[in-house]
Amino acid sequence: MRKKIVLITGAAGEIGHALVDNLVERDNHPLLTLDLQALPADLSGKTTHIQGDIMDKSLLSRLVSEYEIDTIYHLAALLSTRSEFTPEAAHRVNVEGTLMLLQLAAEQSEWRSKPVKFIFPSSIAAYGMPDLESKIKYARVREWEWNYPRTMYGCNKLYCEQLGIYFSEFYRQLAADRPTMLDFRSLRFPGLISAFTVPSGGTSDFGPEMLHAAAKDEPYACFVREDVCIPFMAMPDAVTALLCLTDASRESLSRRVYNVTSFSLSASDFHKHVLKFFPRARITFEPDDKRQRIVDSWPADLDDSAAQRDWGWKPQYGLERSFEEYLVPNIIKQYHP
Ligand code: SER
Repeated sequence: MRKKIVLITGAAGEIGHALVDNLVERDNHPLLTLDLQALPADLSGKTTHIQGDIMDKSLLSRLVSEYEIDTIYHLAALLSTRSEFTPEAAHRVNVEGTLMLLQLAAEQSEWRSKPVKFIFPSSIAAYGMPDLESKIKYARVREWEWNYPRTMYGCNKLYCEQLGIYFSEFYRQLAADRPTMLDFRSLRFPGLISAFTVPSGGTSDFGPEMLHAAAKDEPYACFVREDVCIPFMAMPDAVTALLCLTDASRESLSRRVYNVTSFSLSASDFHKHVLKFFPRARITFEPDDKRQRIVDSWPADLDDSAAQRDWGWKPQYGLERSFEEYLVPNIIKQYHP
């Protein structure tokens, strides 16, 4: 008999790291993790880990033959800044990789006559505000507004959301005998901040980079202007959101893609918060026009009322609690044990 598992791609990345830790605590299902990299030392032994590529078809067929995949957290992706340097490679990983996993989930759903839950982190990058006036005027965007991404990563995320909806609702719509479909659910995250890891290749990275540099007592030149404002969320809330969306009953969901957020603040307010806890922080602002344009195109806030209404979303860590109870104490422990 095939062994029932939860599959997590991109498990060695920032979200993966936090999610695996939580799933190990709470789930009865064994975890199968997949990443190009080895798992960080603190996670090893907690999952069955395969170091491999989501684009490797023979690897994916092997997984299907050995395991019954119940839920997929498809986290593997190239982030926004990184994707601008290699847009075609980003498309391959972010879109073709997702398509392959959706196909795998579709096959599994059909084979076991039960939908595979396919949980997909999307992003504020799916939005594209045309100019700063619009960003100020339409600060709190709803899911269906301003879907005009300006980065390859944002285009990839928006399109994969649509692919997920297609595979859940319309796949093989002309077949006489339609199979059991998968159950795609997605969250549009703001910039995420972890106390334990620093992101790589994103454009919201200026927030976490500023904080980690201050804790390490290293100088940091912030690559965006002081006035730029985007939404953020502490990593534990991101994990909670993923788990709550996974657990929500299908009937309670009026959408398949939901905004979630915690707090919005400008880079200069972020700086002020960092200074409150690390008064000796050496932070300067040296905007990089190109990365600035990307952040300028992201909304200042997300309207997450659909998530609140449908599945009771509420961030546990607002701005103050994120810094005081999660970020600062854990970062200090990490760099100054
Ligand atoms: N954190 C992502 C990035 O900066 C946005 O979702 O690319």
